[in-house]
Amino acid sequence: MRKNIVAGNWKMNNDLPQTEALIVDLLKQTQTSNAEVMIAPTYVNLYQAFDATRNSNIEVIAQNMHFAENGAYTGEISATMLKSVGVKTVILGHSERRAYFNETNESLAKKVDAALKNDLRIIFCFGEELSDRKSGNQEQVVENQIKSALFHLEASAFKNIVLAYEPVWAIGTGETASPEQAQDMHKFIRQTLQNKYGENTAQDVSILYGGSVKPANAKEIFSKPDVDGGLIGGASLKAEDFIAIVNAF
Ligand code: PGA
Repeated sequence: MRKNIVAGNWKMNNDLPQTEALIVDLLKQTQTSNAEVMIAPTYVNLYQAFDATRNSNIEVIAQNMHFAENGAYTGEISATMLKSVGVKTVILGHSERRAYFNETNESLAKKVDAALKNDLRIIFCFGEELSDRKSGNQEQVVENQIKSALFHLEASAFKNIVLAYEPVWAIGTGETASPEQAQDMHKFIRQTLQNKYGENTAQDVSILYGGSVKPANAKEIFSKPDVDGGLIGGASLKAEDFIAIVNAF
């Protein structure tokens, strides 16, 4: 059975005092929930966040990692480093990484392999640009992103993979895909998985939606049968909003 997941991607926001304060707020408001709850603070605050959320239902996850185990990669962080501070899940392929840091389907395939080799769970992000949607190519683009980074894997690897469909035109723009647009694409993604790996694998993979999810629209988006949760940017920076989204399940 696939899980419901709500993950907050804090991006390059919140220094250490702000991280600690937001976690205190979140812990005050989180009760038991029907979804797994995750937050992704910046690298330098991962350990403090991990420590502050011990014995809670909040999992601290990372926003990115390098594919190498270690070595001369100034400014980069490896899977083993993440694991050593308690991280068990990493976001890979976020559109901001693809757009501003030249991440490609090929380099992402290497990151995927490195994460799985180190027993990290992956939230793998992908999604089309506005121009792709306008020209009606969104399914082709998404299929290509998934195939080139993930389809060299065995079916069993998908136990440790969560997919996150994030149309680039909806990220941080206030414009959300309609619940129907999200459902259509999620259904297409599940079908693409099924064609390659069979129904059991396809049914067990959680597919999150990301792009301007807010307390006001979360319930409707999450009510769609192939939407298993959300990757939340802006609205994850306010405890009240993030918890309202978690509670939309
Ligand atoms: P947003 O970001 O919720 O601010 O649109 C989503 C994301 O980038 O994951």
